[in-house]
Amino acid sequence: MLAYRHAFHAGNHADVLKHVTLMCVLRYLNGKDKGYRLVDTHAGAGGYSLEGRYAQKKGEFEEGIGRLWERDDLPHAVAEYVDGVRQFNPDGGLKQYPGSPAFAQMLLRPQDQLRLFELHPTDHRILASYLGTTRNVEVHDRDGFEALKGQIPPPTRRGLVLMDPSYEGHADYGRVVQSLRDALTRFAEGVYLVWYPQVSKLEAAQLPKRLEAIAPKGWLHARLTVQQPDRLGFGLAGSGMFVINPPHALAGQLQAVLPWLVDVLGQYDGAHFALDRVDA
Ligand SMILES: C[S@@+](CC[C@H](N)C(=O)[O-])C[C@H]1O[C@@H](n2cnc3c(N)ncnc32)[C@H](O)[C@@H]1O
Repeated sequence: MLAYRHAFHAGNHADVLKHVTLMCVLRYLNGKDKGYRLVDTHAGAGGYSLEGRYAQKKGEFEEGIGRLWERDDLPHAVAEYVDGVRQFNPDGGLKQYPGSPAFAQMLLRPQDQLRLFELHPTDHRILASYLGTTRNVEVHDRDGFEALKGQIPPPTRRGLVLMDPSYEGHADYGRVVQSLRDALTRFAEGVYLVWYPQVSKLEAAQLPKRLEAIAPKGWLHARLTVQQPDRLGFGLAGSGMFVINPPHALAGQLQAVLPWLVDVLGQYDGAHFALDRVDA
């Protein structure tokens, strides 16, 4: 059963890290004319109201995009991300938050392709009505882990995969590793972005090491920790982005924004970031 709804979390600190990284990689891919395919295996609804009862319930966006919205000292990559959110809010106020398909839609060019997979019936319906008839975009209500193999390698052999599951059950951690291991045998040179939560679970702690083991050509691992788990060990302390075959410039771009994000998004004195990278 799919209980997770991203509408509760849209625009939180984890979305900030994820979408800043996604935009950096898309801009890098746009540096060459040759088209590419972006496969978003867990696409969500595509956009979220920040005024609706889901987003308002915990107000997570207030500790994420909300802390960036009025700032006039944004580092370059964060400024580009906030500009993207502004494009999604033509009236000027922060009322809606773009999901990964919307950020992609802003940056993809006519020669690029977007493949979106979303299993939740409501979010799939919203996504399909938003982007389902857009040229070069396909929206599917299929299991993204399973569908990935049919999408790679792309015809141009340029491609990016965003894997952003809900990790509702323990099984998602293993499915991430399994589907990426398979994907790398089909398309070794693809760029793969995996988001994961920093939560008190063995599977979450082990995931980066398991991903390192399947990424012989190089990887980058960025973590942003903003809060302490509660006294029972629950809660989202932060999140990580693990990138297989990262563009060379990505480490420098993230190094330039992560300390600033710690200062602005940190919710306790121990807030911190980490950035590791191994090149082939
Ligand atoms: C974290 S949200 C995605 C957020 C989105 N990528 C973004 O950045 O805006 C994860 C989504 O995956 C969906 N989902 C869960 N399991 C799935 C699966 N096996 N295949 C495709 N979608 C799935 C959930 O319904 C949820 O909407």
